[in-house]
Amino acid sequence: MVDEVLAIVLARIITLLPNYLLLLKKLEVGVFFFCWRSHREAKGLPTCFYGTLAKTLKEQALSEYGHAQVFCKLTGSKLNMSGAGLMSREEKAAFDWGCVDWDTSGESYQADGMSTRYLSTKIFFCFRTANSYDWESRLAFMYVLEDFQSLFYKQLLRFVPEEVQLKLAPIAEDELTHAIEIHACLRCLVGPNRQEWLIFLWQIRKYLALVCIPVDACLQKLINS
Ligand SMILES: [Fe+2]
Ligand SMILES: [Fe+2]
Repeated sequence: MVDEVLAIVLARIITLLPNYLLLLKKLEVGVFFFCWRSHREAKGLPTCFYGTLAKTLKEQALSEYGHAQVFCKLTGSKLNMSGAGLMSREEKAAFDWGCVDWDTSGESYQADGMSTRYLSTKIFFCFRTANSYDWESRLAFMYVLEDFQSLFYKQLLRFVPEEVQLKLAPIAEDELTHAIEIHACLRCLVGPNRQEWLIFLWQIRKYLALVCIPVDACLQKLINS
């Protein structure tokens, strides 16, 4: 219930920004990066658990890239490459993709490193980078974020035009699927008791971070004005 109210407030604040679709695109590209990088790390680890986790993370990375493409197309441009294309280039070490010309609008930005860019993300990650955390924390915060993102997108449906609603509804469902999959991976890694504790800790950080989002939104508005 608290989360639902927070998601409604956040959805209202975000839709007051003229470029909210661009922000959502950047958010999705950032998540894509994180999932893909985590996939690559997990792939190199022994045990069957990490093999399964690596597969889940790769699928999620592609799904997040698909979401970014949807938001991009809604703003009238297009991401230049497919998610799979970007992945295979990095696999061949032929490409440094920290900052690339992402889309046909000609926009280029640092899509990597979101965890240390905004006040809210700094608070959430306690002034560390997202990938500096161990696997149990990573899966716990990924679950908390995916779960809230799904709720947030569902509430966003109230405030966006119909053409955006049609594209956003399936994305909200995808985020819920991601949350469920990550939840299962975390349980497998740490067991149910520790899982509950970790999720509780990251939920607290989520509430602290959400308090800072209006500040970030005001700063974004100032930067863009
Ligand atoms: Fe997504
Ligand atoms: Fe997701």
